[in-house]
Parts: sequence; C-alpha cells; structure tokens
Amino acid sequence: MTDTVTTPAVAGLAFAHAEDADTPALVALWERAGLTRPWNDPFADIALARRGPHSTVLVAREGTCLAGSVMVGHDGHRGWIYYLAVDPQLQGRGIGRALTIAAEDWLRARAVPKLMLLVRPDNEKVRGFYEAIGYAEEPRVVFSRRLDGK
Ligand SMILES: CC(C)(COP(=O)(O)OP(=O)(O)OC[C@H]1O[C@@H](n2cnc3c(N)ncnc32)[C@H](O)[C@@H]1OP(=O)(O)O)[C@@H](O)C(=O)NCCC(=O)NCCS
Repeated sequence: MTDTVTTPAVAGLAFAHAEDADTPALVALWERAGLTRPWNDPFADIALARRGPHSTVLVAREGTCLAGSVMVGHDGHRGWIYYLAVDPQLQGRGIGRALTIAAEDWLRARAVPKLMLLVRPDNEKVRGFYEAIGYAEEPRVVFSRRLDGK
C-alpha cells in the first residue's frame, strides 16, 4: 500500500501528510476557518490522528504557507473526514475539492468503500459545497457519548 498523497491538479499547490512542525499552523488555520470549539482540543486531535496507520492529516501547501487541510481516517468499513478547512483568503479556488479528492484517494487505497462526514446543522454554506462536489445528504440520527468526562 502506498502512503504517498495523490495530488489533484491545482496550480501552485503541493499535497502531503502533515508533519510535526505543521501543528501550530494547522490549529491557526482551523481557528480562522471557524472549526475549533472550546470543548475540543485541536492539538490532541492532530496528535491522535497522526499516531496510527488508520488516520492522517493531509495538507495543501502553497510555497511555505498552509493553504488547507483535511483529517481522514477509517474504522475498517467507513471512512470519515474532519477538519476540512481552506484558508479564508484562498477559498473558491478548488482547494477544498482537491483536499476532499486526496482524502477519498487515501481511503480508496485502503479499500474503504464509503466516505462519511458530519456537518453542523447551522453550517448551510458547507452543505452547498458538499452537494456541489457530489456528496448526498443522508437522513440519519447521530447518537454520541463523551468518554472524556467533558
Ligand atoms: C468548505 C470549504 C472547505 C470549501 O473550500 P473551497 O476551496 O472554498 O471550495 P472549492 O473552491 O474547492 O469549491 C468546489 C466547488 O464547490 C462549490 N461551492 C463552494 N461553496 C459552495 C456553496 N456554499 N454553495 C454551493 N457551491 C459551493 C464551488 O463553486 C466549486 O464548484 P465548481 O468547481 O463547480 O466551481 C471552505 O469554504 C472552508 O474552509 N470553510 C470553512 C470550514 C468548514 O466549514 N469546513 C467544513 C466542515 S464540515
């Protein structure tokens, strides 16, 4: 199984796995993109996603700048993406679509048949994005339970 990142063609961008040194810029990007929440620790999320073979964080770089990111992982059947973010100054150039394709390819290389993602109900804008790139909304009720006591 290859661990190289498929690079969709977006002029001037390079796609790769996040490295240790990317963590502060990743968290800053997620804050600018409005993805962080007080009850989640983005530093811990990055460390956990990069720890094992079943998940990773992919980044799109423009020169030395972090243009976007997506966290991707799987549970053996379903693949999931989280923290898809494009720098607000660079949105609308195809970077979000390219990162999603890179995540799809990462999952496809591991024979994962389906990609899932959660959208907060008030995030109308991102629903339009996922519909535009070929995702379908599925009526599901999500149950959850915190395991960290928060
Ligand atoms: C969602 C996000 C990642 C999209 O990234 P982006 O780089 O701006 O999107 P792209 O330029 O790749 O857009 C791909 C396509 O989606 C379309 N699109 C984007 N936003 C759209 C919207 N709100 N409604 C309809 N279509 C939309 C684009 O027009 C484009 O279509 P085209 O290729 O036919 O022109 C970016 O807006 C973002 O970081 N948002 C904040 C963070 C966030 O909400 N993340 C998702 C968490 S679930």
